[in-house]
Amino acid sequence: METVTTIAAVRERVRAWRRAGHRVAFVPTMGNLHPGHVSLIEAARAHGQRFVASIFVNPMQFGPNEDFAHYPRTPHEDEHMLAAAGCNLMFMPEVAEIYPNGSERATRVEVPGLSRVLEGEFRPGHMEGVSTVVAKLFHIVDPDVAVFGEKDFQQLAVIRRMVAELCMPVEIVGAPTLRDGDGLAMSSRNQYLTAAERALAPRIYAALQAAAARLRAGDREFASIERAGFETLEAAGFRPDYFAVRRATDLAAPAAAARELVVLVAARLGRARLIDNVQVTRP
Ligand code: PAJ
Repeated sequence: METVTTIAAVRERVRAWRRAGHRVAFVPTMGNLHPGHVSLIEAARAHGQRFVASIFVNPMQFGPNEDFAHYPRTPHEDEHMLAAAGCNLMFMPEVAEIYPNGSERATRVEVPGLSRVLEGEFRPGHMEGVSTVVAKLFHIVDPDVAVFGEKDFQQLAVIRRMVAELCMPVEIVGAPTLRDGDGLAMSSRNQYLTAAERALAPRIYAALQAAAARLRAGDREFASIERAGFETLEAAGFRPDYFAVRRATDLAAPAAAARELVVLVAARLGRARLIDNVQVTRP
């Protein structure tokens, strides 16, 4: 695996692969890699012959009081993990390479509607930061296919919509959430948890599963399911932002007859803000 830091170097490598007839698959990340990230490279294998991963902690998607400065950065470990996973190229740019005029006034890509709900409500500007950097990375890498985790369900939905509406020639693949044995979704932010908080954290997935069980059993009292999830987490010591039952296709409030649903949660625990979701197809 080769590591490069400039846009020009990425373009040169990818163009050479494409001339040789290879399909190029891309996995964007913010680094501090864990097995969940590695599973995306593994998922990419079915879709291409050359693999690019980016490691870029994107300032535009962090709010002024969020953890941009403290976000864990482990470039050497990341490099080893990507090489071991069979990645061919790691793109690790400086902020100035991506935002030469600063991120504050940079050109933006917005996906209205989908970006404003849920995460968008509690992290204003976050989803625009994500869609903007992913659009830029797609223009830099020019992949045939890009893989994203279902862990960030709304992010995946926003990117699918952006790609469709801006006619970007990239196939988007979603990959399942990798969890620790006790159900906690793997995340770089889990490191912010104390031992006691880490022991509590799997209750998020348990609350999602309880909601999913009610939905699968035909329960249509979505408001009651949302309240039960929210209150269970609150009683356990979390500070939930939302616990929401939504239509999986567009994150709108579902009609009673809706079959493709997703239950999404964001909850603060100590210093960490954890998000998770489960998809439910009702009979
Ligand atoms: P990051 O949080 O580093 O995640 C990179 C990718 O890994 C995302 O597609 C995310 O959904 C996926 N991922 C994270 N945890 C996962 C898990 N436990 N199982 C499976 N996949 C998982 O998401 C971002 O970075 C950024 O917003 C980014 C898209 C790179 C734009 O800056």
